[in-house]
Order: sequence, then C-alpha cells, then structure tokens
Amino acid sequence: MNAIINNLEIIRTKSSKIKDVDFDNLKFGQIFSDHMLLCHYKDGQWDAPKVVPYQSINLDPSAKIFHYGQAVFEGMKAYKDANEDVWLFRPMDNYKRLNISANRLAMPELPEDYFMEGLKALLKVDNEWIPKQDGSSLYIRPFIFASGGGFHASPADEYTFIIATAPSGAYFSGKVKVLIEEKYSRSANGGVGYAKAGGNYAGQFYPTQLAVEKGYQQVIWTDDNTHEYIEEAGAMNIFVRIKDTLITGPTSDRILDGITRKSIIELAESEGIAVEVRKLSVHEVVEAAQNGDLKEMFGAGTAAVISPIAGFGYKGTDYDLPELENSYASSLKQRITDIQTNKAEDPFGWRFKVE
Ligand code: PLP
Ligand code: COI
Repeated sequence: MNAIINNLEIIRTKSSKIKDVDFDNLKFGQIFSDHMLLCHYKDGQWDAPKVVPYQSINLDPSAKIFHYGQAVFEGMKAYKDANEDVWLFRPMDNYKRLNISANRLAMPELPEDYFMEGLKALLKVDNEWIPKQDGSSLYIRPFIFASGGGFHASPADEYTFIIATAPSGAYFSGKVKVLIEEKYSRSANGGVGYAKAGGNYAGQFYPTQLAVEKGYQQVIWTDDNTHEYIEEAGAMNIFVRIKDTLITGPTSDRILDGITRKSIIELAESEGIAVEVRKLSVHEVVEAAQNGDLKEMFGAGTAAVISPIAGFGYKGTDYDLPELENSYASSLKQRITDIQTNKAEDPFGWRFKVE
C-alpha cells in the first residue's frame, strides 16, 4: 500500500441522511449513502482519493463525457452478516474489468490500491448504510468519466473516479417476460460490448422501450450479424436449461464477461450439473420450447443476481416456460447468495472480508 492511501483523507458529512431511510422497504439504487470516494486524474496521474460527503459534481459544459461518452462503470455489492462482518464478492475481478473497460475507451487505468483501499475506507465510513435485511445489500457503483473538456473528438486529458453506494433491495421482483431481438444490437464485433461503457446501456434503452410497449420487460440480445444466436439478457448474462443441461454463450467482443456468470458456471459444475459454454441458436431454443425440452431460462448479474424468465416472444409467437419445483435458478441463487452473505462455506475463495 502506498503512502497516499495510508493517509486517505476523510471528510465526513455534517448531516447524515440515514435516519430517513426505511431499510425494510428498499428499492434498487434510489437512495444514496452519506459519502462517496472521489479522485481526479490530471497531468498524467491520479491524485489521492478522498472520502467526501455525497454531493453533486460541477462540470464544464465542454467536458468530454457529455459529447463523446467516455464513461465506464462497475457494479458490486457489500453484504453484512449476522455478526456485522462486511463482505464483498470477487472485488478484484471488478477492479480488473474496470481497467479493461477504461482501456477500451482510451481512459487511464486506475491503480489497484486506489480502488481497493478507497472502497474499503468508504465502506468503513458508511458501515451503517450496509443493510442486514435478507435480500438487501449495499449496491456499489464505481465509475470513471471524462471530466476534461474540449470539443475536439479525442480522449480527454482529465478524468474523475467516483465510488457511490446505495442501500438496495431487489432489482426485479418476480419473473420477467423477454423478447428475443431480431433487429437491434447492443454490441458488434470489434466494438465495446465487452466493456461496461455507459453508451452500451444508452443504446439498449430504445429497443427495450419498444419491447416494453409490446408487453415484455427485457430484450434478449442476439448476435449483430445474423440475430440467430442468443447473447445476453438486458444487462445480464443469460443461461438456458435444455433438458438438464445448462447452456450459456462464450464471452467475446460482444458479451460482458460477467462475474456472476462465471461463478454460476463453477457452482453448477461443482453440483454435478452439466454445463455447456457454446453458441446457442434461437432456433434450438424455440425447438426445445416446442418439444418440451426447454426447462428454464434466467439472467445472471450482480444487480439482479439470478432473474428467472417466465417466457419469451419471438417472431410474433409467445412461448411460456414451465413452473419447476426444483429449478436450477432457485437452487443456484440460494447457493451464490449464501456464499456472498457468509451463510455458507466458500470453497472457491470468492468472499472477501472488509477489515
Ligand atoms: N452483461 C451486462 C451487459 C451487464 O451490464 C452485466 C452487469 O454487470 C452483466 C452482464 C453481469 O455481469 P456481473 O455478473 O459481473 O455483474
Ligand atoms: C450490475 O448488475 O451490477 C449492473 O451493472 C447492471 C446494471 C446496469 C444495473
């Protein structure tokens, strides 16, 4: 750890908002904790991160985030167990992915201790904001954006790194109905789909709105070239169970390398479930739905954990999925959340104690 982080400055809020929060009825990402981590990049280097009161940011109208969309983010969660110990889940993977995303958008990488030590300091200051209620957690949003200005279409010379947090409940309630996309794409070969770049999400909103108008909640993204292969489920990776095999597509330029996805693959394999990481065609899914082999579909991601899919629409036809007693979605969700919240052994070494 370097000296800057050793002496991480903490400026505490004078008026905590915590008394106004109903921790038993939390929505997702609507209320923000008292503090945030703040750090600026200028003249080729990051200055010392600070914990400061949660606050608005002043930006010049020419800041390149507004014009050229240089912005990347991460999504993580902190959990508090019955002993009030605080846990993160595979945080170094989020740190590494933030830099992979930053690289793709020609933004500066962040040093590891700025991220890890900065996050730990923030979680200590806002410890009271980490919910203990079942199904709730502190959602953590680290992000970097171009705060440097100029209308020239080139990378900014100044950046800002912030970690903001929000005590949160479930992302989705209940099962979702999805539409398999035939026209729009969220990503392309050689593009930025594998990065957590803000623009990837902006590009999804319009096709998702069209799907919502038709009565679906989410879009299942297909490959941009042929729209024949299943790729992602909204802002989640997707798993499909045909008979007793769990199938998910391989990561690529177009697909985010999800931390939940890779954990689910390992967990399922460790439970003896057959897992196939391979291209999965819409045709195969439709055929399996028609002949009764399609048992489950679910999205997997940090915010939603595992989100079961009730049915899907494709080329004007709706296909319903069966109600299963012992679904992989519910047993794997239980397994992963038990590990995340320190209710079960963690043979994989994924859990990270915040001390
Ligand atoms: N795919 C997309 C496009 C996402 O935004 C996310 C959310 O983070 C995921 C997949 C799931 O990734 P993770 O499990 O690392 O949260
Ligand atoms: C997450 O799952 O953490 C995400 O980043 C998805 C999101 C856009 C809410």
